[in-house]
Amino acid sequence: MELWREPEAFRRACDAARARHARVGLVPTMGALHAGHLALVEEARRRADFVAVTIFVNPTQFGPNEDFGRYPRDLDRDAALCERAGASAVFAPTVDAMYVAGDETRVHVGATAGPLCGPHRPGHFEGVATIVAKLLGLTGPSVAVFGRKDYQQLRVIHRVVRDLFLPVEVVGMRTVREADGLAMSSRNAYLKPQHRAAARAIPEALSAACKAFEEGERDAETLAGMVRAGVELVATSVDYVEVADPESLAPVLVGDRTGDRALVALAVRLGGARLIDNVVLGEDPPPIDPTRDGEAAS
Ligand code: PAF
Repeated sequence: MELWREPEAFRRACDAARARHARVGLVPTMGALHAGHLALVEEARRRADFVAVTIFVNPTQFGPNEDFGRYPRDLDRDAALCERAGASAVFAPTVDAMYVAGDETRVHVGATAGPLCGPHRPGHFEGVATIVAKLLGLTGPSVAVFGRKDYQQLRVIHRVVRDLFLPVEVVGMRTVREADGLAMSSRNAYLKPQHRAAARAIPEALSAACKAFEEGERDAETLAGMVRAGVELVATSVDYVEVADPESLAPVLVGDRTGDRALVALAVRLGGARLIDNVVLGEDPPPIDPTRDGEAAS
């Protein structure tokens, strides 16, 4: 596996792969890799011959009081994990290489970036859309693989690719969960033991909504209220719990009924960690599968 730090050298490696007719796949990450990321690499491996994993903690997607400075960074460990998962190349650039002096272009996404995390993380999706556009431009992949835990991010990237006619297939992979159902996230490392134990309430609340939906509940406020009640018991604060259209992300309003698929998404804080999670009701399995006795669905 090759490790590249310089954008132009990485671009040449991807160009060379395409020149020998290898199908190129991209897995963009911020490092601190866990089993969820490795599942993305493995999926890319199934869909492409040359898989590039990018590791870059992107400053433009962090707000001034967010965790850019303390985001975990361990390139040696991450590169070893990528190699074991079958990556062909790792690209780990510096901030100055990705935002060259004088850089002044940003990719601004409209309504898809507006709800859910939008108001709580101003500028976040602009930062994500900008860095993903840069990484797609350098790599030139046929396929790019992202996780569905960051569901709004995935919708934003679909929007960018569609609106800018970018020649890449975007694949969203099901959330990988810990044994108790908590969605895997690099930010779980911030959880103190008591918050880690309490975090189980998140997949429990989402699973309760899945069960209610399966039994016929379609009232958006009832579904959201059920999840909110579950997470409020343990969260330090709740940014939002919302029921929304799974494609447009437009909220299903109080008093309205959902269709046969509905997104339930949430962001909560437990101590110093901000955690997000979601399920698409009518599509995803419950985060805690009742038939598997405490084990989580992935
Ligand atoms: O999901 C992430 O890790 C990041 O938001 C991404 C897509 C790599 C962009 O920095």
